[in-house]
Amino acid sequence: MSSPAKSKEPTPAPASPPAATAAATPTPLTAVAAQARGILPATHWQQTHDDEDDGNDTDDTASTLGSIASSTASLSESIFEYRQVLGRTYHGNVGTAEAWQPNDPRHTEAMDLFHHSNTLVLSGKLFLAPISKKIQKAVDIGTGTGIWAMDFADEFSDTEVIGTDVSPIQPSWVPPNVKFEIDDCNQEWTWADNTFDYIHSRNLIGCVEDWESFYRQAFRCCKPGGYVEDLTSSVNLHSDDGTLKEDSALKQWGKVFCEGGARFGKTFSIIEDDLHRTAMEKAGFVDIVIKDIKVPIGAWPQDEKEREKGIWVKLAWEADLEGYVNYLWGVVLGWTQEEIKNYLIALKRELNSTKIHSYYTTRVAYARKPE
Ligand SMILES: C[S@@+](CC[C@H](N)C(=O)[O-])C[C@H]1O[C@@H](n2cnc3c(N)ncnc32)[C@H](O)[C@@H]1O
Repeated sequence: MSSPAKSKEPTPAPASPPAATAAATPTPLTAVAAQARGILPATHWQQTHDDEDDGNDTDDTASTLGSIASSTASLSESIFEYRQVLGRTYHGNVGTAEAWQPNDPRHTEAMDLFHHSNTLVLSGKLFLAPISKKIQKAVDIGTGTGIWAMDFADEFSDTEVIGTDVSPIQPSWVPPNVKFEIDDCNQEWTWADNTFDYIHSRNLIGCVEDWESFYRQAFRCCKPGGYVEDLTSSVNLHSDDGTLKEDSALKQWGKVFCEGGARFGKTFSIIEDDLHRTAMEKAGFVDIVIKDIKVPIGAWPQDEKEREKGIWVKLAWEADLEGYVNYLWGVVLGWTQEEIKNYLIALKRELNSTKIHSYYTTRVAYARKPE
């Protein structure tokens, strides 16, 4: 049995907080910049709430959002001591990493629900690359709760599987061929050249500083003939029949996330900017395969399988809507807790409407390192 999330080589914590200080200085968009990007002012959602208040949405989002003014990012020397922001916890100080998603149980539950919806999206599969059952060593970068790595290790019981993350949120009781390591993928990867037969990552939106550097390092650490694979879901939502309006909360979701990610220095526009193809190609990978899959949100699809996916996606979103938005929107972009609360009320209403036929794109990209 492997040990719980052990630090491979924990980066020593600096004496003072690292340079990534987005948390300290919210930089709200000017009205002109917001308009140019199609982003509605945060105050818009108060208006919507006043106009459409149905009295049923007494959700708990406001109660757990603390005052932005009083929020502090207390960085700690211990990876097990987390930053506390807006009443939620985020990973501690590992290198210069600053994660926008919480690492508390409410959010890890949402991650596990997304794991299920992601496997439904891949028709029950964990990956699409044509890897051999005989591979010796695989790694899952940014493994989260480690649920993908553990399922993969069960399926590949003779393969040594490593899961890495900046946050030690993985369980201790794991398949014997899995181990977890604390590692910041934005720093120089410490593995030797040609270590892995398979390098996997999933949903590192807003986590990677430089995708070209990510795949350069993946190329170096991948064995000749080995594969890299990434699954990424877009934050931008669409409908094919005009039921998703430009000024809807669902449509605004992607716009605000992309803006927050740009200011945070870690992009959310991975699919939109075709980063897999360009970064994999530049690194030297060949036989690049890109597969885009439409993923419905909510119970609107007629088709039973699509409806099942949509319901799971909605469940995963609803498990921690506030956790998705409160750091980037509140701390990075400077929305007030009231504005976030009102936005989420509008979003929940739309998520529950089967009249809005929204979906997002999940992209699976895989490629091979030449022999
Ligand atoms: C959306 S979650 C996805 C988790 C997992 N890959 C999955 O699909 O279930 C993103 C994960 O990336 C981790 N992360 C963020 N920045 C990272 C970094 N610089 N290096 C490694 N992991 C990082 C977060 O802590 C979080 O667990």
